[in-house]
Amino acid sequence: MELWPAESIWEAVSPLLPGFTVEVLPEIDSSNTELMRRARAGQTEPTLLVAERQTAGRGRLGRPWQSAVGDSLTFSLSLPYAPRDWSGLSLAVGLSVAESLHPGIGLKWPNDLWVADCKLGGILIEAATAGGRSQVVVGIGINIRPRSAEGLSTPPAALTELWPQATAGQALLRLMPPLVRTLQDFEQRGFAPLQPRFEARDVLRGREVHTGDGLRGQALGVGPTGALRLLQADGERLIDSSEVSVRPTPQ
Ligand code: BTN
Repeated sequence: MELWPAESIWEAVSPLLPGFTVEVLPEIDSSNTELMRRARAGQTEPTLLVAERQTAGRGRLGRPWQSAVGDSLTFSLSLPYAPRDWSGLSLAVGLSVAESLHPGIGLKWPNDLWVADCKLGGILIEAATAGGRSQVVVGIGINIRPRSAEGLSTPPAALTELWPQATAGQALLRLMPPLVRTLQDFEQRGFAPLQPRFEARDVLRGREVHTGDGLRGQALGVGPTGALRLLQADGERLIDSSEVSVRPTPQ
């Protein structure tokens, strides 16, 4: 069983987030679902919920998120949140996680962590409103050790390929304080100041890509709100991240 550095995480994060708590649950349907239920019920204290096992883990676009117990890190962070503009938030979160964990981690717009065209992890951001105040739930799943590729549309990568001694607990301890700082900066300043750093890790930039809804073109990077810049025969188009999947087109 994983030994979680819950105390160390709490010590590093609570000065940034007063009232912060850390919870580790052996099993839950989904850490995002649980924190969304709590937020809707008016429980809005900043909470990190680590799930050792998820029985109904969720990804973007209604997809399931499967993870093997002990081989992955699955957690969600909930906090009261009121940015002026939410656009680009999943890019900011991905950037923060990638920068905290390893220089070799790339970002696949809008919310995947990639290593050499394989998927290391994903991000699911949801928002709830309770009593007129908004709450964000940031859910992150990262493969720590190699996993089976069965049933996956993109082959999986594992953090131990880059950081051989990595454990889920050490990865969480490393990424949490910068993640909270990133969320707080984003709330004040939005995505634009992060655009150059995102572009440095953008794995789609310059490549031919296609979207789940049939668009094709060359990815030119991201704009100041985090929208994907797609070059097509008739010019450039901006694609918003909300309901789209994008993949490199095999050459
Ligand atoms: C994606 O790649 O589509 C996003 C995957 C997000 C998975 C994480 S695991 C922790 C949290 N709980 C969930 O049910 N989903 C997120």
